[in-house]
Amino acid sequence: MRIGVFCSGGDAPGMNACIRAVVRRAISDGHEVVGINRGYQGLLDEDFFVTEASEPTMSLRSVSGWARFGGSFLRSSRSPEFRTDAGQFKAVANLAKHRIDALIPIGGDGTFHGAVDLAKHWSGRIVGCPGTIDNDLMGTDFTIGFSTAVQTAVEAVDKIRDTAESHERMFLVEVMGRHSGFIAVHTALAASAECVCIPETKTDIPAIVRDLHELKARGKTSVMMIVAEGDEEGDAAKLNEELKAAGNPFSTRCVILGHLQRGGSPSPEDRILASSVGDFAVQSILEGHTGMMAGIVGGQPTLTPFEDTYAEHKPIPSELSSLIERLAR
Ligand code: F6P
Repeated sequence: MRIGVFCSGGDAPGMNACIRAVVRRAISDGHEVVGINRGYQGLLDEDFFVTEASEPTMSLRSVSGWARFGGSFLRSSRSPEFRTDAGQFKAVANLAKHRIDALIPIGGDGTFHGAVDLAKHWSGRIVGCPGTIDNDLMGTDFTIGFSTAVQTAVEAVDKIRDTAESHERMFLVEVMGRHSGFIAVHTALAASAECVCIPETKTDIPAIVRDLHELKARGKTSVMMIVAEGDEEGDAAKLNEELKAAGNPFSTRCVILGHLQRGGSPSPEDRILASSVGDFAVQSILEGHTGMMAGIVGGQPTLTPFEDTYAEHKPIPSELSSLIERLAR
């Protein structure tokens, strides 16, 4: 069997470890792997990974040392062309031309929407791996890249706390998460932040200002507020203005961590998760599964239909949010 592997959507630390696992498992079981560059767009452009020996299929050696690197050696993209019917027909033609029998897309909800669209026109098997720093997919406890992104954000907030204390300031630190507060909540708890604003809960400006006055009265000299970029009330700059207008007693600064969170060497957790789901995705394809994401739930490799990974909003454990509030004294 010839399996195509690619990364799509926002890159995530651990994608390379996942590709490595796919290549090693598939070749060990007697199959071939085609590395597709630049996601769905690369499939349309017939942009494939070529080994140093100019071979069109990946070798055991071509992924040596990949697990420790962030980013994606196969690169990644979002492809407007693939979203069209014409794009999907072209993708099917290219899959046939290059004799690809199965695909392993590594990405988030946009990637899996693409897989569902492709499956309407193509009878090959597709089993995906959850690669996104947002941790917003159902069917897996964590997604590849989330642990590293949180680690990066926590290291940044720790550093910001130093200057915040020196200047007795409040910082609003904006983290990624367009539709999800997972990075914000985990960062806030790990970095002992006093406040967190996420899209899943209502951001109540007057209530936050009341809390800030209480914290100041209790002798707090610095405050960290973690803001998910997709908070329904606005981004860090907008929240800062609103807090100021409502009587925030602290002097403030805003920091946007942005794409910093998408880079860096993957954490051991991300490497282990990526290796496990990459290996499991190959196994699942060989067993005949298709239309599924390979995830890990409660330590168990688990297959979830693509549609179910994004149909529902993955809930943030409410005990984490209340723990942040309880400890922010
Ligand atoms: O989905 C992953 C993610 O990093 C989001 O958290 C963020 O909103 C988005 O991608 C940013 O995408 P881009 O790299 O296209 O700016």
